[in-house]
Amino acid sequence: MADKRGFPHHMLKEIFEQPQGLRDTVAPRVSLEKGLVQLDDVRITVEELCSVERISIVASGTSRHAGMAGQFMIQDLANVPVEVDYASEFEYRNPLICRNELTIVITQSGETADTTAAQREAKAKGSRTIAISNVMDSTIAREADGVLYTHAGPEISIASTKAFTAQMAVLFLFAIYLGQVRGKLAKEQVQRYIRELLELPAKTETVLECASACKALADRYHQVEDFLFLGRAIHYPVAMDGALKLKEVSYVHAEGYPTGETKHGPNAMIDENLPVVIVATCDRNDAGSVLRYEKNVANIKGFKRQSARVIAIASEGDEGMRELADHTIFVPRAPELLSPILEIVPLQLFAYYMAVRKGLDVDRPRNLVKSVTLE
Ligand code: F6R
Repeated sequence: MADKRGFPHHMLKEIFEQPQGLRDTVAPRVSLEKGLVQLDDVRITVEELCSVERISIVASGTSRHAGMAGQFMIQDLANVPVEVDYASEFEYRNPLICRNELTIVITQSGETADTTAAQREAKAKGSRTIAISNVMDSTIAREADGVLYTHAGPEISIASTKAFTAQMAVLFLFAIYLGQVRGKLAKEQVQRYIRELLELPAKTETVLECASACKALADRYHQVEDFLFLGRAIHYPVAMDGALKLKEVSYVHAEGYPTGETKHGPNAMIDENLPVVIVATCDRNDAGSVLRYEKNVANIKGFKRQSARVIAIASEGDEGMRELADHTIFVPRAPELLSPILEIVPLQLFAYYMAVRKGLDVDRPRNLVKSVTLE
């Protein structure tokens, strides 16, 4: 086992390594002065990238959640339609590959059997591929047309944490790059995004200060057996991943759901016995984000009328949310498309402390392996 550098578990160490992982993944690829993102390792020509008509993102587990966030980033910044699929589904559903399709496969290990098989299927049908991997020279990286490495450092704990935030950062870089080469983004816009990206590590350090609040939440809720995690738009994959982390390390049933969908079924279950964890940040510079925030506030009021206990992830300074929710964890303000990188951190910490409180083997949850190399 690699050195835990004074942390009780690899998972906690890796959660705390996220600022460094973000720095190492982003800084070498951007020039703030020139307003440029440079992705030399992408190895697909600018002409080819300009002719891409559709992107398919294929991955498993947490890596797929990063892909779901990437879908919003690429569509918003490069204006290219994106579909996201489970690698295990893609490989057996005889996927339709269109002309000028690009397939992006995402995998921390680079060895996940479903994801490598999905890449082979996409290539066999004529798609160009880009692999996002955290491991140099992994199988998926060797077989891909282009590679974008995340530089999160080795991830030992079975639950993926720092690879996830680095994957979202790489997807954001790729979205800017694509927007840049396709002439969709002006230099000033790129500079603004680069500035925000470069501020993320320091903002993540700030979020990590909420560790003791997350531990207190786990102390309070460790006997609860079901949780509902909610988020809208790009925050939905964050809710999905918060639920996945809780399931895998603390064996507590948790479901991730799009907030607006609660009225179409799950609302029947929401009462004092089912705590709701809701990602409800707001980017005041983004009209869509403000609208979704207002909808979230209305949803939370409804949950409170149903006697639910609400844990909210909100933007720093949102005193209204503090009043409304039972517990609020604040994250620094960031543009809508980058907020997920901050929002997931308290959810990772909550899952970690729940598992510790329950006396479980945090780094090696039962029935799981780090890399699923056999289907
Ligand atoms: C969740 C988790 C898994 C992996 C999934 C894919 O915390 O670790 O869901 O994300 O098995 O693994 P990679 O990214 O190596 O392909």
